[in-house]
Amino acid sequence: MTQDSTRQRGLDSLASKERFDALLAKIDDAEAFDTSLGVETNRPVEPWEIEEANDTTLLNNSRYSPTPVRTIRQAIAASPLRYEDISFVDFGSGKGRAMLVASEFPFRKVIGVEFSRRLCETARENVERYRGPRKCGTVDVRCQDAAAFTIPDDASFFYFYEPFTVAVAQQVLRNIEASVRSHPRQAVLCLVGAGLLAALDGPSPWIQLGETLASPDDPYFDTRLYVNGTQEHSTDGTA
Ligand SMILES: C[S@@+](CC[C@H](N)C(=O)[O-])C[C@H]1O[C@@H](n2cnc3c(N)ncnc32)[C@H](O)[C@@H]1O
Repeated sequence: MTQDSTRQRGLDSLASKERFDALLAKIDDAEAFDTSLGVETNRPVEPWEIEEANDTTLLNNSRYSPTPVRTIRQAIAASPLRYEDISFVDFGSGKGRAMLVASEFPFRKVIGVEFSRRLCETARENVERYRGPRKCGTVDVRCQDAAAFTIPDDASFFYFYEPFTVAVAQQVLRNIEASVRSHPRQAVLCLVGAGLLAALDGPSPWIQLGETLASPDDPYFDTRLYVNGTQEHSTDGTA
């Protein structure tokens, strides 16, 4: 690859990041989530601004940017499970926006797993300050690597918005599947965006539930819910 084409790729990716951030800012202005509810979840944080950044985290796509609020609500509202019976986990919870929106639903517990200490602090401050409606009394931020997180026995709604690479997601999925085998239960995987679809390639217990949910914000945030089958299924539902 020539120096010119490398430079051009760098410029293209910067331009596409700028377009994406402009889209996010427009959605955030319209939703006024932060300004009306007393929190700060809007501003993206680049991987290199994260204290714990190292070669692995930089390769693992650890940029913080929030899911638009309406997309989160739509995904959670589509859950076939009774909120009162289960806990919600956001893998790569950042400043906590998905957790705050999840706390509007009567989950037993809302848990966010985030490896950046600074983002965890911001998320905890946001949980304290949040003036939105709350139906879940326990909202907990765990500062650790998602791959090392022990899945609670009652956790059954697992939220992912483009947090890390497929390799990390596959380890998280193995942890979820082991938990569901040792404490059999129905669980839901929620994938916002298409970045982790490849994690479900090959034999997998996860079956897509219904159609892909078209995001009310932008097709980039289209969402897929999956439920665990009782047998080994591929993602198109064939045994
Ligand atoms: C795209 S943001 C999603 C934020 C939030 N879930 C939301 O929807 O508003 C992804 C987050 O994942 C975090 N992250 C990346 N790799 C991680 C890992 N291995 N363990 C925990 N958090 C991670 C990043 O620091 C970043 O805050």
